[in-house]
Amino acid sequence: MTPLQPLSPRGVAGPVQPPEHPPLLELDQVEAGYGPYRALFGVSFVVPAGSAVALVGPNGAGKTTVARVVSGLVRPSAGTIRFDGRDVTRWPAWRIARAGLLHAPEGRSVFASLSVEENLVLAFKGVDRRTQAEALERAYSSFERLARRKDQAAGTLSGGEQRMLSLAKVLALPRRLLVVDELSLGLAPAIVDEVFDALRRILAAGTSILVVEQHLERALALAEHVVLLSRGRVLREGPTAELSADAAVLIPPAVGTLGTGRPTPPQPRAESDPPGGERLG
Ligand SMILES: Nc1ncnc2c1ncn2[C@@H]1O[C@H](COP(=O)(O)OP(=O)(O)OP(=O)(O)O)[C@@H](O)[C@H]1O
Ligand SMILES: [Mg+2]
Repeated sequence: MTPLQPLSPRGVAGPVQPPEHPPLLELDQVEAGYGPYRALFGVSFVVPAGSAVALVGPNGAGKTTVARVVSGLVRPSAGTIRFDGRDVTRWPAWRIARAGLLHAPEGRSVFASLSVEENLVLAFKGVDRRTQAEALERAYSSFERLARRKDQAAGTLSGGEQRMLSLAKVLALPRRLLVVDELSLGLAPAIVDEVFDALRRILAAGTSILVVEQHLERALALAEHVVLLSRGRVLREGPTAELSADAAVLIPPAVGTLGTGRPTPPQPRAESDPPGGERLG
């Protein structure tokens, strides 16, 4: 299989704005890494207001790093991030969250010894009482399964229910942009359906979404735009209809197909994606 090559030096041209909506999130030439290890090289793309963008790429491509950088958890070493017209590149995570960019991270991010309700209340702590009550209400109406288990310790929920709880923590709060990272990993198809239904509802209600997802078909069904990332660089970006074939080439078929309900085993890197980024300096 021929590795995908960049069609144009996208990083050089700066972000392309789809004409119909103003950008809500813009990354411009973003570089980031971990210590001496560089994971992102001049990453530029936009998430237009009111739309969903799928960030797609093989394991180790840098997708989670992008999610962390835009939500303020990893500080970029170069480049600019704008959210809602403001330069948020140097903002701390809490301030970015308060401005309306919420991040549902990889993994289960729940407090095992606290009940479902205590987990939710803790997540909604920063907001006033009324918003908090509304957020609880919304969490339970989005995920009835959680309402039935609100007094159960989160650590005793099934894996899928724990993922729902971590999603409910961010879905229920008011937000402009939701960044979701591998939400469906290891979930049974029925639960993945519930999760994607919830995403579709919040998209319809006006929230933009940046979705990192290994279930390619589901991500592409949700998103109008797709960004293909490989080895820390944007290979291509554009309307989903034009890039879905390229995305399928980039993602190994075992990952790109619909879920089996079994946890996804660790995926070997694609041939075109040799280990990691590059060392700085
Ligand atoms: N905390 C960290 N410390 C050092 N290196 C890291 C750290 N987190 C990620 N990396 C490295 O950065 C690169 C990008 O990782 P990242 O998690 O962003 O990839 P990804 O596209 O989300 O992959 P996956 O599909 O497997 O989740 C990888 O090579 C990874 O090993
Ligand atoms: Mg990841």
